[in-house]
Amino acid sequence: MKALYFNTFGDNSVLQYGEVALPKITKNQILVETKYIGLNFADIYRRRGTYHIENHMPYINGYEGLGRVVQVGENVRNFRLDEQVLFVDVPLAEAQYVCVPEQNAIKVPAILDPKMVAAIGLQGLTADFLAHDLGNNQKDANIFIHGISGGVGQILAQMLTADGINVYGTTSTKEKQQLALKQGAKKVFLRKSAWQTTNKASFDTVYDGVGSTLKQSLELTVNKGKVVFYGMAGGNPELINPLDLLESSKSILTGDLWDYLDSATEREKRSRRLFKYFEMNQIKISEPTLFSLAEGKDAYEYLESGRSIGKVLLVP
Ligand SMILES: NC(=O)c1ccc[n+]([C@@H]2O[C@H](COP(=O)([O-])OP(=O)(O)OC[C@H]3O[C@@H](n4cnc5c(N)ncnc54)[C@H](OP(=O)(O)O)[C@@H]3O)[C@@H](O)[C@H]2O)c1
Repeated sequence: MKALYFNTFGDNSVLQYGEVALPKITKNQILVETKYIGLNFADIYRRRGTYHIENHMPYINGYEGLGRVVQVGENVRNFRLDEQVLFVDVPLAEAQYVCVPEQNAIKVPAILDPKMVAAIGLQGLTADFLAHDLGNNQKDANIFIHGISGGVGQILAQMLTADGINVYGTTSTKEKQQLALKQGAKKVFLRKSAWQTTNKASFDTVYDGVGSTLKQSLELTVNKGKVVFYGMAGGNPELINPLDLLESSKSILTGDLWDYLDSATEREKRSRRLFKYFEMNQIKISEPTLFSLAEGKDAYEYLESGRSIGKVLLVP
């Protein structure tokens, strides 16, 4: 089968496209022929060698995809041949075929467009735990999202708006600002404008997937408020002294999606809750950008450059 792979960590030049061995399923797995593979920031960290990656030679990146079941292990009970499934936490995904443990496979509702389901998978389930497990805000709360037009940002903003929460955020460009406003945000500031001084201590919760903005996030938060820190798209955060938090009763919460997807039941419960927003038309996302798997290098470059809006999908 064809795959995108690398033998050493580094910049984009380490990525190669070519033939690798077809994986073999165990009794508890299904073999999925991938139709769309989700590219995520974490894949860039993994290619650089700064994030956990499956020990496999050559390295094959990617944990997220949607495709058709083409083989079923003898102990598998809930999936059939030809069924369409989504997975968001299975390694070696940037390939034509992926072995998916039964408990990691998520059924895809027939009424949703498979391409859009592939585009919302990991980022949507991330938005779900950020909103419902960590933020857990009441109606009419004021919340702020850095990078509101990113993949997670777009879904999180609309999910919270649908939940009755007032959403604010920043973007780097006017185009992204317009998109976020169209998706229901109350106010969207251009990152380079002088918006920070007038918005200090204004938000109950600040969602920060940028990292380098963590100190700023704490300034934006009201006393007794919280910062939900979930990624480093803009670089590592400065160290924070817990005594500074204590003085203003502010908290920093963190979370990794994988700790929330720890059983088949959790995957099912959470994906159903997520898909409901789409079935009820409460969340719309921008059309994903598609790259062929063979052009995977360009897709990494596009995501890393900050030019992308919403999801980047690889198509084998
Ligand atoms: N904890 C978890 O379980 C989990 C799961 C999935 C993703 N994540 C993290 O969530 C974050 C967003 O992921 P994504 O998939 O949504 O990526 P994405 O679509 O590329 O969005 C990244 C966003 O970050 C913003 N950004 C980048 N550099 C910035 C900077 N220097 N200052 C301010 N904003 C900056 C961008 O804003 P503009 O577009 O306006 O420039 C962009 O909207 C990443 O850090 C990722 O690792 C965490």
